[in-house]
Amino acid sequence: MSTPADTATTSVAPTLGYTTLEEEARIDALPLSGELPAWLAGSLLRTGPAKFEIGSQHMRHWFDGLAMLHRFTIDDGAVSYGNRFLESRSYRAAREQGRMVYGEFATDPCRSLFKRMQTLFSPGSALPDNANINVTRLGERFIAMTETPLPVQFDPHTLASAGVRPYEAPGQLTTAHPHMDRAGGGMLNYAAKLGARSSYRFFAVDPEATAPRQIASLPVKEPAYMHSFGLTERWLVLAEFPLVVNPLALALSGRPYIENYRWKPELGTRFTLVDRATGEATGGFRTDACFAFHHVNAYEEGDEVVVDMCAFADAQIIEDLYLERLRAGKPVATAELTRFRLRLTDRSVRRELLADGDIELPRINYGRCNERPHRYVWGACGGPSGWLEGIVKIDVEDGSRQTWSQPDCYAGEPVFVARPGAEREDDGALLSIVLDARAESSFLLVLDAADLSELARAEVPHHIPFSFHGQFVRS
Ligand code: CO
Repeated sequence: MSTPADTATTSVAPTLGYTTLEEEARIDALPLSGELPAWLAGSLLRTGPAKFEIGSQHMRHWFDGLAMLHRFTIDDGAVSYGNRFLESRSYRAAREQGRMVYGEFATDPCRSLFKRMQTLFSPGSALPDNANINVTRLGERFIAMTETPLPVQFDPHTLASAGVRPYEAPGQLTTAHPHMDRAGGGMLNYAAKLGARSSYRFFAVDPEATAPRQIASLPVKEPAYMHSFGLTERWLVLAEFPLVVNPLALALSGRPYIENYRWKPELGTRFTLVDRATGEATGGFRTDACFAFHHVNAYEEGDEVVVDMCAFADAQIIEDLYLERLRAGKPVATAELTRFRLRLTDRSVRRELLADGDIELPRINYGRCNERPHRYVWGACGGPSGWLEGIVKIDVEDGSRQTWSQPDCYAGEPVFVARPGAEREDDGALLSIVLDARAESSFLLVLDAADLSELARAEVPHHIPFSFHGQFVRS
């Protein structure tokens, strides 16, 4: 007989998920249990931080780690695996010089004031390109992305860097969460251009293009930290949380990048809608302060724009994700699935909680529901100790939750893959990389997306440090 207290004392902490993986492997067939859906064929490509020390320098924040790409290819009932450090400029410089050369999110190498100014105000010259947040497909190109304007193109089979810059975003900061442009087949994103006169710039990159095409430019005095944005059929949706930066202070302070941002709750959370066709902005939507990394989806309904996000009460989560705290098992702030209804007629904002309990790293049936109403959201969720302990499915119509979890196992973002020809929104599979902390290794977990029952798992011989985001590419 075991009580919850016993279970807590005997469970193995997820520290290994924040520990460097040096090994690069190629494995033709992983040990597989269960049965893969016969229709499931393609590759799950993911990126995430995997190296947290360079020489004597230790990365301070989870977001700082040097990027590693992972590939799980499902073909004819078998799963092959490969992983490789992303050969970015940041990675090559670190390897060649044995020290950290480019600054990261919350860790900065010693650098002169002149160098800092130069980095910030002459884009491209010395910005890092450690693309550890997300991967995406742009036409026939595969790119890894972070929040600097420099994506890294790679080969989806070998994971080797292609050695060419696919494009450069028009600013110093951007997001690693572009949206698909249904009409043009390219991608949409925003960037913040910092300077004496700063602006937010929305841009498109067409499938074959090597330069962005600007859609809109909005002046801003103190840019907000934004990790993603929303998209409806008509609007680009910007949610400015009150975590803001003075661009000049950022250039001059000498502190690592994110530590220049200030929490100013009196600003509230401000929404701006930008017309995709004309670039015209409609602002003035304001509600109480909150913070989010991830928009879940957005769509239009009558005279309202519906915007769903995983919302935190404040920006404490950024503090919580410092490696020292994560490795010590300190509690991590949780986000709730929150809906914001922006009414165009009077610019009012109504806020409602869609489900009890936490969710982060959210995914939807994107191909079907992007820009349109959705019913289901999948994500990672907490458990007794609070963070990445399971996978959750939320039905936003009735607020119900289903979860998958297993002792000592820590799950990452579940990527939804629709069954070809599916009629139901949740007819498909979920792919997630799970750390088995007791076994000190990770596995690819395949769940039925409808009821979260396990279909199959493929075991990797080593641990995979927790990664942020990935995409499934059908073969
Ligand atoms: Co993200």
